[in-house]
Amino acid sequence: MSEAQERAWIELAPQYVIESPRDVAATSIRPGSSIDPAQVWGRAAPLVVEIGSGQGHAIVHAATAQPETDFLAIEVFRAGLARTMLDADKAGARNLRLVEANAPEVLEHLLPEASVNELWVFFPDPWHKKKHTKRRLVTSAFAALASRALVDGGMLRLATDWEDYALQMRDVMSAAAGFEAGFEGEWAPRFDGRVLTAFERKGARVGRDIRDLSYRRLPRS
Ligand SMILES: C[S@@+](CC[C@H](N)C(=O)[O-])C[C@H]1O[C@@H](n2cnc3c(N)ncnc32)[C@H](O)[C@@H]1O
Repeated sequence: MSEAQERAWIELAPQYVIESPRDVAATSIRPGSSIDPAQVWGRAAPLVVEIGSGQGHAIVHAATAQPETDFLAIEVFRAGLARTMLDADKAGARNLRLVEANAPEVLEHLLPEASVNELWVFFPDPWHKKKHTKRRLVTSAFAALASRALVDGGMLRLATDWEDYALQMRDVMSAAAGFEAGFEGEWAPRFDGRVLTAFERKGARVGRDIRDLSYRRLPRS
């Protein structure tokens, strides 16, 4: 991290970062260490969670625009989290918290069942080579964790600029129990709650189609 990011971490982490007991890896979450969102945010409000928030552009913008909603950024890249805190602090966003952890473990262990109103995964694929496809986040195991964390009627929103990953996301989610498509036709319209980040801009610049998908969590029976 840069010196400014190191400073941001020391000064701002106590206010923004949710500390959680770890399992074996530094970015793991120990099973059984669930948070109470009402206690963390100090109120009962809808919760939006972004996985792989990068530099935090989308989530800081959304948190600032919607002060009545609570936001959680999940990211393993510490410098990105420091940037997110600096921007959130500058914008005066008090409804945002961050967790430095592997997202599937946050969905499985940190967030209570049926606690998330929207789950966002935008441009999750930093490794687009064929040999890396097995590392992709959006798999049937991920769909089951998303289904656990979302409230009835909650939305999972996905976006990618890699066509083969977009197809994988759509295949996985159309086969996933407990979800229905939130769009008609082949792809969802661009989610207007998403600001343009460097990843989307870069994908569009080199001529890749940006694909959006959205899925609604069906009511639990
Ligand atoms: C290609 S970047 C996109 C960042 C941001 N969503 C955007 O659109 O600008 C993907 C981000 O996901 C993060 N990431 C990848 N796998 C993750 C995981 N398992 N848990 C948490 N973050 C993850 C990476 O560290 C990286 O910052």
